Amino acid sequence: MAENDGNGEDGVRRRDFINIAAVSFAGVGGIAVVLPLVSQMSPSADVLAESSTEVDTSKIEAGQGITAVYRKQPLFVRRLTKKEIDEANAVDISTLRDPETLEQRTKPGHTDMLITMGVCTHLGCVPLGIQSDQNRGPFGGYFCPCHGSAYDTAARIRKGPAPKNLQVPDYVFTSDTVVSVG
Ligand code: FES
Repeated sequence: MAENDGNGEDGVRRRDFINIAAVSFAGVGGIAVVLPLVSQMSPSADVLAESSTEVDTSKIEAGQGITAVYRKQPLFVRRLTKKEIDEANAVDISTLRDPETLEQRTKPGHTDMLITMGVCTHLGCVPLGIQSDQNRGPFGGYFCPCHGSAYDTAARIRKGPAPKNLQVPDYVFTSDTVVSVG
């Protein structure tokens, strides 16, 4: 009688069984791995709470700013002085690396309230300048000490390696003084 060399019927069946067992195991393993990922993907209550931020601007005087937190990142909320607004409006935007007017970067009727992320668009450092006693750089807005990016009073990039203006997040004024960001 010929010895079963693995190519006979018994051998095929045995391999099929081994394959099926391996697939079943992978299937079970796959489910076990996928479930924790799915539960990680559904936002927890604290993440949902951070997905929008309310800021009361009523106490911010012209020339002052505050740092809030939006999605775990610094959010600069600054009330510009008349001089800072005039300086921003005096710039020919065709000369800018990332051309935007102050009007485009603020809300109608609130051009004095400049709300941007406090994150340098070069490599993500937090620029100086939200406090009036900090170095605001040669253009009077913000200055990133990491590699010397200088932003103007509309937080537009004017000098240094950063490619873009400080990002203006989505926000609305929910009253004359309260802003909802996100
Ligand atoms: S991270 Fe701001 S200049 Fe590089």
